[in-house]
Order: sequence, then C-alpha cells, then structure tokens
Amino acid sequence: MDEIKNKIEAGGERIAKMNEAPTQSDESKSDAGFFPEFEHHSNTDIVVGIKDVEKTFVLGTNKVDILKGINVDIKRGEFVMLMGPSGCGKSTLLHIIYGLEAPTNGTILVEDEDIWAHSKNWRAYFRNQFIGFIPQQAFWIKSLSVIENVAVPGFIGGRGYRESIERAYKTLEIVGMKDWAHYRPFDLSGGQQQKVSFARSLLLNPKFIIADEPTGNLDQKSGVQLMDLIKEFNESLNITVLMVTHNPDQVNYASRIVKMVDGKIMDDIIDKEQINAMKHEA
Ligand SMILES: Nc1ncnc2c1ncn2[C@@H]1O[C@H](COP(=O)(O)OP(=O)(O)OP(=O)(O)O)[C@@H](O)[C@H]1O
Ligand SMILES: [Mg+2]
Repeated sequence: MDEIKNKIEAGGERIAKMNEAPTQSDESKSDAGFFPEFEHHSNTDIVVGIKDVEKTFVLGTNKVDILKGINVDIKRGEFVMLMGPSGCGKSTLLHIIYGLEAPTNGTILVEDEDIWAHSKNWRAYFRNQFIGFIPQQAFWIKSLSVIENVAVPGFIGGRGYRESIERAYKTLEIVGMKDWAHYRPFDLSGGQQQKVSFARSLLLNPKFIIADEPTGNLDQKSGVQLMDLIKEFNESLNITVLMVTHNPDQVNYASRIVKMVDGKIMDDIIDKEQINAMKHEA
C-alpha cells in the first residue's frame, strides 16, 4: 500500500507539473482559436451541483419519467457511491452530469459551470479538460496500442502527439501498466483493461472522476486492485469521485452513499458507521 502511495504521490507531482501553464512553444497554442477559452477560477467546495433534475424518455407515444427531481451537491474530495436497483436511473444521471444526455428539466453545475447552458462543443471540451470517465466496459480504438488509446484525450484536447504519449506513459506507469504500453488493448485481461481505462481517465488531470460500475465485469481480486487505486487517487490528490456500484462489499471505499430508487434519492448517508453497516446488507 505504501508503495502505491509513493508512486501516486510522485505521479501526482508529475501530473501537476505537466499541467503547469503551457509555454509559447506549446503546440496547444495553435488550437486556441478552435477551442473556447476557459477562464476557470472556481474555488467552490461544491464540485457538482445537481438541482431539480428530471429526465423523461419518449418511447413511441409513451413518455417514461426516469429521473423525478434529483437534488445532490457533491463536495470536493468526496467519494460518492451511487447505488440502487437496476433501471432506477443511475447511468442516466451520470450521463447527464457528464454532459452526454440532456436533462428534461433542472440544472447541473460542474465546477460552477452550468454545463447544459453551453453548446455541445463546449461540453465536449469541458468534459475533456475536467472530467475523467471510467465505463463498465472500456471502449478502445482497436487499431491503436494501449499507450495511444490512453493518449487519445490529449489529442482531442489539442495537445501534441509527443506530449500526449509522454503523459500516457506516465499515467500507465502510475497505475502499474507501463509494461503493457505497446500491446493492443484487447490482448489484456478485463482487470488490466480497466486499469488502462483508469489511466486514460487521469490523462488530463481531472478534477472529478465519474465511474459507472467500473468493476462490474471484473473478478474479485482485480476489482479490489482497481478500487484501491481509485481510492488512493481520491485521497492523495483530492480528486472527487462519483461511482455507481451494485456491490455492497465496496461501500467502505465511500465517504458517502447516495441511494436511488425509481428515479428519486431515497437515502444520502455520510455517517461512517452507517456506511460500514451497509456492507452486511444484502
Ligand atoms: N436513451 C434511452 N431511451 C429510452 N429509455 C432509456 C434510455 N436510456 C435509458 N432508458 C431507460 O431508463 C431507465 C433507467 O436506465 P439506466 O440505464 O439509467 O438505469 P441504471 O440504474 O443505470 O440500471 P443498471 O443498474 O441496470 O445499469 C431504464 O428503464 C432504461 O430502459
Ligand atoms: Mg447503469
């Protein structure tokens, strides 16, 4: 554990260094006109503000209410687990926060930005710069190697090939996957792919990580390894985490459990003893 911690601390410094203000020669300069400029000075303790969020899907002539007025403020450094029965709307809520699916009503503030008041391109750039995402099943560009796949958010963010690859190598090193850099992602085990997926989510030093059942397809040991890694990042770099899980064994990683049922928040627990007791609930 100490070894991981040292690695992460060193890695955190390296990532912080990589994120220092770009120099004149930085290749991203040439893209300044392409991407909207960010004047980002948020010091708020609320990383994500979810206000009165509703979502209705229209299926043929039917309207189905999936989210029925969700209100949650997620504070900096929290490790929030979102739990609830299948179909209650957890992934839908994550997609709305990530800027992929528009809410029918309500507001999402991420780092004080009202993300749905902006354009689609703005959201894509914001997502790239501020949010890391770990899906249940990693998506890969098959023709690219592991390291190139990890570097993709760098290319998208307008950074040069070399800088993106260098960053990718460092994040792979941090999650213990550098020896696999030149493999094809599909040659890796599920657990290894999820570590690589985590490395990719860290590439641009996100303030906030969203994970939708990241251990859902993993064996127990790989699941624990990934959870330990995410938790170490959460604690040592104060990165806020919002994660969906069905696994009560994982509750002790969380600083807060939000329980959803049928499109509503039923419980919001921060008491550590109460959280630990949930481990024994079926
Ligand atoms: N694009 C869509 N169009 C229509 N209905 C949708 C769409 N996306 C999700 N739904 C419906 O919304 C409901 C909630 O789905 P969601 O994926 O958010 O559930 P979940 O809580 O993540 O479930 P699980 O634990 O199984 O992943 C489901 O009934 C689903 O069929
Ligand atoms: Mg889901």
